[in-house]
Amino acid sequence: MQRKSKTLFTRRDFVRSSGLIAAAWAAPRAFASAAANALPPATLDPSTLARFVDPLPIPKTAQPGGTRPSPVDASLKLRYYRLAMGEFESRVHRDLPPARQWGFQGGSPGPTIETRSGEGLLVEWANELPRRHLFAVDHNLHGAGRDKPEVRAVVHLHGAKVPPESDGYPENWFVPGKSALCYYPNRQQAAMLWYHDHTMGINRLNIYAGLLGAYILRDETEDALGLPRGDREIPLVLCDREFTPEGQLSYEVSPDPDAPWIPEFYGNATLVNGKLFPYLDVQAGLYRFRLLNGSNARFFDLSLSSGQSISQIGTDQGLLPAPVPAKRILLAPGERADLAIDFRGHGGEQIVLNDDESKEVMQFRVVRGPSSDRLSLPPQLRPITGIPESAAVGTRTLTLNEYDDPKGNSMLMLLGGAYWHMPVTENPTLDTVEIWSLINLTEDVHPIHLHLVRFQILDRRPFDRFAYFATGELRYMRAPLPPDPTEAGWKDTVRALPHLVTRIIARFEGYPGRYVWHCHILEHEDNEMMRPYEVLPRSATVGVASHATDAHQL
Ligand code: C2O
Ligand code: CU
Ligand code: CU
Repeated sequence: MQRKSKTLFTRRDFVRSSGLIAAAWAAPRAFASAAANALPPATLDPSTLARFVDPLPIPKTAQPGGTRPSPVDASLKLRYYRLAMGEFESRVHRDLPPARQWGFQGGSPGPTIETRSGEGLLVEWANELPRRHLFAVDHNLHGAGRDKPEVRAVVHLHGAKVPPESDGYPENWFVPGKSALCYYPNRQQAAMLWYHDHTMGINRLNIYAGLLGAYILRDETEDALGLPRGDREIPLVLCDREFTPEGQLSYEVSPDPDAPWIPEFYGNATLVNGKLFPYLDVQAGLYRFRLLNGSNARFFDLSLSSGQSISQIGTDQGLLPAPVPAKRILLAPGERADLAIDFRGHGGEQIVLNDDESKEVMQFRVVRGPSSDRLSLPPQLRPITGIPESAAVGTRTLTLNEYDDPKGNSMLMLLGGAYWHMPVTENPTLDTVEIWSLINLTEDVHPIHLHLVRFQILDRRPFDRFAYFATGELRYMRAPLPPDPTEAGWKDTVRALPHLVTRIIARFEGYPGRYVWHCHILEHEDNEMMRPYEVLPRSATVGVASHATDAHQL
């Protein structure tokens, strides 16, 4: 069943009235195109389903299968995990038949990997997927030609500082029956990272099928804060999906069967840890929620029906300097938010987590009665020292571009005007600091993610796009805007807002070698909005670095 792609008509920004950042935030709104009305509904309408009848599932913690010698020091034994990607069926809602999905160890999200800062581990990612894809592959996309096997996979650990061989380079995919052993040193601060597929040209389809999971890193600084733990600390992995009336996952295609790619996918159903409209029983106490937006393209704008404020305590790359109270939590694809919610004083209430003010996502059922909970949120979390601009060896000016067909449908997105296959242009030297200045020439918000590094957002600044198009000259229109307090920590994904120049600053520490940077809207990423970048060893002068300098070769 094919419908006209609604996203072609609705991708332009919806402008909010409150303030510039919020205005440019632009959560896309769906409306049906007139042309689509003639066709019978091909999708399940989630509003016909009973709400809050399934308990929220909590992904299992991954269990190691013994130890293996460390690739850097054979006398050291590291925990070894084997996580298999495969097809499975599970009910996303009590009243729906089981849905066919892909996941890890029979689940999506896959098992949560738990570890501590400085404790390296090994994961063997095994491809045990079937040989046919669940969704239509677009063979026009780079790296997904007809000469490539239909089912391929490679796993990336988003937010991790890892040697290049273990980073899940998009071209290092492997077919069913094969596996890849990855080494994660975990030499970084406490944060919630996430693992997901990263296969060239079909990443959007593989992640949509369910190939993602959480990875929680802890450290002593975090331990010392006494934040809620155990059953008071809950990962919430949010993904928007669309289902057929029979309850099977469906992924929208374009009207052209030979070119099924669509510019963005928006589903009408939000899964939380793999369930639709789940509920969670909570005590009238303090909870910690680790949120991840694992959607292909959807931006979440989350709030509580009780109107109470939420404390954001961490960003993508860990704790903020202090809790930031917020009524709304904005989350772009790939971003994480570490939240504390205090249910004290809400005994007996049923509190709904909404997206976009009124779209129900899940429910918290607070038990009746007073709570003996004496936990409180520390006023200070982890100090963050800003990287001074003066520490940077230079600024890279990089455009975000989008090209439309004559009808105004977007066809292609590029970073710095370059295609994936073109030579590397971003090549910072190991341990140097750089500023990346992202000039968004499009009408969309693009969540830009860099592998390997964490960064800080310096500012966002409106510029004259017409002058830029006419003369190539960057003319600023207003003073720069500082990052929102909720993003004023360590980040690995930044929302590059339309009509603004977004500046980030990063120290390229870790390992020399080949990594990628890209837009985390997966449809964009699969259609050229991804570029390789190369961290050059300190001794290198110009040109492409040699991988031979990496002591962590597996
Ligand atoms: Cu979340 Cu390149 O990845
Ligand atoms: Cu990543
Ligand atoms: Cu994008």
